[in-house]
Amino acid sequence: MMTVTLRIWRTGNTFTDHTVSVPDGSYVIDAIERVFAQPGVSLVWRHACHHASCGSCGLRINGLEKLPCVTPLSDYAPGRPVTLQPLAHLPRQGDLVVDFAPFFERMQAVGMPIIRTDETAGNCLDNRRDLRFEDCIECGLCVSACPAMANPVFIGPAALAAAERLMEEPRGADLSALLQLVDATTGVWSCRSSYQCSAVCPSGVDPAGAIIRLRKRLLS
Ligand code: SF4
Ligand code: FES
Repeated sequence: MMTVTLRIWRTGNTFTDHTVSVPDGSYVIDAIERVFAQPGVSLVWRHACHHASCGSCGLRINGLEKLPCVTPLSDYAPGRPVTLQPLAHLPRQGDLVVDFAPFFERMQAVGMPIIRTDETAGNCLDNRRDLRFEDCIECGLCVSACPAMANPVFIGPAALAAAERLMEEPRGADLSALLQLVDATTGVWSCRSSYQCSAVCPSGVDPAGAIIRLRKRLLS
């Protein structure tokens, strides 16, 4: 067993410390669950799949955007608190949870691309047809890490990566309208090429690379 102290950001802009024991080899999410299970402790947080698939658990851990479900506690120095904060650039709802409505509004603006519906419809347990585009798990880590998101009208890295994906495989999308949307100060020209989005993406989407390809397309 190992002992870890989580320093958790709380609504009201304070932090509370919680020390728990977890088995060796545990992930940050395991420690959060132990805190959540402690009598008398309330904590607002979100998770589901436990394996980097649902995209719901994203946090800033010691200041860096991560999925706690795939972040080993062994990544952090023993004996020092591990600090957990909600994602940045999205409205805070409570403790570690942010409101994803603005994120999905941006994805909607580029048409909420649906890729490979034909191939996968009928193979899903729940028969859902509104499948996500490619590898993006809509976790919002890129949006939190992006310095250009300080501009509240910037469409952001995930939506621009989705737009670029549609350019490659339009499937009936109106590409001229899409180009108009991204060719704006709210689009690719707000990106500062920090590459933070690609650095934190847990799914290999590389939004920064997509933005560069969009710029090249617009300038060619
Ligand atoms: S592009 Fe990557 S970091 Fe951004 S929402 Fe999608 S999976 Fe998450
Ligand atoms: S719990 Fe689903 S991505 Fe972490």
